[in-house]
Amino acid sequence: MSTPVRTAIFPVAGLGTRFLPATKATPKELLPVIDTPLIQYAIDEAQAAGVERMVFVSHPSKGAIERYVLDDAALRASLREKGKEDLADALREAALCPRGDDVVFTMQDEPLGLGHAVLCARDHVLPGPVAVILPDDLILGTPCLPEMVEAYGATGAGHMVATMTVPRDEVSKYGILDGAETAGRITRASGMVEKPAPEAAPSREAVVGRYVLDASIFEALATQEPGAGGEIQLTDAIARGAERSGLAGFRFSGTRFDCGSKAGMLRATLHLAAQDPDYADVLAEMSAPAPRAA
Ligand code: UTP
Repeated sequence: MSTPVRTAIFPVAGLGTRFLPATKATPKELLPVIDTPLIQYAIDEAQAAGVERMVFVSHPSKGAIERYVLDDAALRASLREKGKEDLADALREAALCPRGDDVVFTMQDEPLGLGHAVLCARDHVLPGPVAVILPDDLILGTPCLPEMVEAYGATGAGHMVATMTVPRDEVSKYGILDGAETAGRITRASGMVEKPAPEAAPSREAVVGRYVLDASIFEALATQEPGAGGEIQLTDAIARGAERSGLAGFRFSGTRFDCGSKAGMLRATLHLAAQDPDYADVLAEMSAPAPRAA
């Protein structure tokens, strides 16, 4: 039996500059796709994977994330006073702490990079491998982390990253697996290259924001030099540990949306709206020819 993945880390301390001015006051991770904030999708995925502890690496200016994630008993009480029992029940169901969940908030005071954010979680994780979920990589359909965790033990690799095959002209937007050999959903790799030029890319297996990492990642991050953009890059630390720990890519079954970008957020919203009969009229209006001005 393989070592269980007991902790999920949510790095949520970034500045979200691509969504300014919205992210001046609202953390990117709380932006909704229809009515559900990105962070909620990530939490649901971690819970479906059966993790015991959730560690949120946040920033002091992003207290709204903590307020969203944790229970607000006063708000629930005021809803009940107004007779809005259903809403109060829904809030209780979605919030983490009233159900005895094991939740930790820790701060990354400066956004020094994704790798640095993961390192900030080091003192708060349970023994064994850890999962890392980037909430702005939204994966709809089959939840990604549960299927990754299930596949993890059988690969024998210490580090596993979620991957999708991208067209060659898009490889420069992603971390790309090096020395990749794919069989079914699993790609064995010898390393990773961050945002290569199309002609230099070693494969078309692109890494997206779900990771299951051997605990040795923390030691690698602690000694990791700044990389692209002067930031401590998670990709660099995974690549350094690939030889010793083993690295596998996992081709997930769901559909991924880059909700760190405006176009990706719009695509995700339209994707969900198209599946909901409540929005059929709205979408029909949008695809109908515009009425002529009188
Ligand atoms: P991104 O690079 O997509 O987020 O990081 P960002 O830097 O906030 O966004 P832009 O590029 O300025 O628009 C992916 C995830 O990693 C977190 C972010 O909060 C996001 O959830 N992150 C990134 C950190 O927690 N700390 C960092 O130093 C960088």
